[in-house]
Amino acid sequence: MQIAVLSDEDTRVAVTPETVRKYGALGGKIRVQGGAGIGAGILDQDFETAGADIVQDAATAVGEADIVLAVRRPEEAVIRACKPGAAVFATMDPFRANGALEVMAEAGVNAFAMEFMPRITRAQSMDVLSSQASLAGYRAVIDAAGEFSRLLPMMMTAAGTVPAAQVFVMGAGVAGLQAIATARRLGASVSATDVRPATKEQVASLGAKFIAIEDEEFRAAETAGGYAKEMSQAYLAKQAELIASHIAKQDIVITTALIPGRQAPRLVTRQMIETMRPGSVLVDLAAEQGGNVEGSKAGEIVTDARGIKIIGNSSIARISTTASSLYARNLYSFVSMLIDRDKPALAINWEDELVKSTILTRDGKIVHPAFAGTRPN
Ligand code: NAI
Repeated sequence: MQIAVLSDEDTRVAVTPETVRKYGALGGKIRVQGGAGIGAGILDQDFETAGADIVQDAATAVGEADIVLAVRRPEEAVIRACKPGAAVFATMDPFRANGALEVMAEAGVNAFAMEFMPRITRAQSMDVLSSQASLAGYRAVIDAAGEFSRLLPMMMTAAGTVPAAQVFVMGAGVAGLQAIATARRLGASVSATDVRPATKEQVASLGAKFIAIEDEEFRAAETAGGYAKEMSQAYLAKQAELIASHIAKQDIVITTALIPGRQAPRLVTRQMIETMRPGSVLVDLAAEQGGNVEGSKAGEIVTDARGIKIIGNSSIARISTTASSLYARNLYSFVSMLIDRDKPALAINWEDELVKSTILTRDGKIVHPAFAGTRPN
């Protein structure tokens, strides 16, 4: 049973020495692409000590692999170098795949999108969205504090009292709740909003103030899967009015609002930003998905004429060691469930809910219900 680990553009890596040892104990022979762990502080020799072989390029790594592990969706050339029937695991970003699903189907790989892991008790240890979003929420507050020219906590000094910063978190899912907890730990005065009613109590339990339009639509805003629905224009208009008056009093705004498979909702407009105090900081964790904040740019910090900063580059890529260790454990938890330890070999139960939820392509076809119907050219 050959297992390949790819070097990603991402600073994270899909295995750690800990999980390399565990795959080895299951009978896996692991080939890691050289330098794959550098961004996460793991050297090739650390992987070798754990029992892996280091190979120089991705094509050599995947050539004979039954299992391919990556953080992000592998490039087309790498997919084409995989043998048919290989199982490829990564966060596949399938809604923005631009033809990559067709390539994976054509190449005959069985591609698994880790972000589609259902949020059920059995799969909690495999939930990459939660493990990574939680770290992103923490990092967003750290990045905001780093760019903010004032303090977060209230401080009483001989020279007088400094007030606590006002932090507003928009979207109180996994990332948002961790952002609230982190900002509270740093001593800020925190408020938060969301469209799902369940978040009201969660926000309050973390000691933050909940702010939202709580109408009929709000009461029905959560899907059966626990995600937010796309809200109507009328709701978004009412929400914008409420937020406009609140945001003018904020020092730091952290936005995390996402709707699966859709463009992120636009929650903060330029006009709202203009009402904020000079030197305020906004962190847009949805920048890569189109942005919650008008004017945010993925991968950049934009500073306006009044010194207001919009951070679009806050990312778990900057806490790559912890992010990798959690991601690697999430992957191991899922992949080890698909292995027959006696052989050892992949033995995938195609009827398992976790497999059915995450599989994108199988036996030359795009099989995930969200994309099926698209066929390789
Ligand atoms: P997400 O990353 O898809 O979205 C982030 C947050 O943005 C969500 O709370 C969403 O309601 C909010 N949002 C969307 N549109 C908005 C708008 N217009 N204005 C304000 N906020 C808006 O969500 P995430 O963090 O992945 O959580 C989704 C669900 O999964 C939650 O119900 C969470 O409790 C649940 N969950 C369950 C787990 C389990 O049972 N194992 C583990 C982790 C999460």
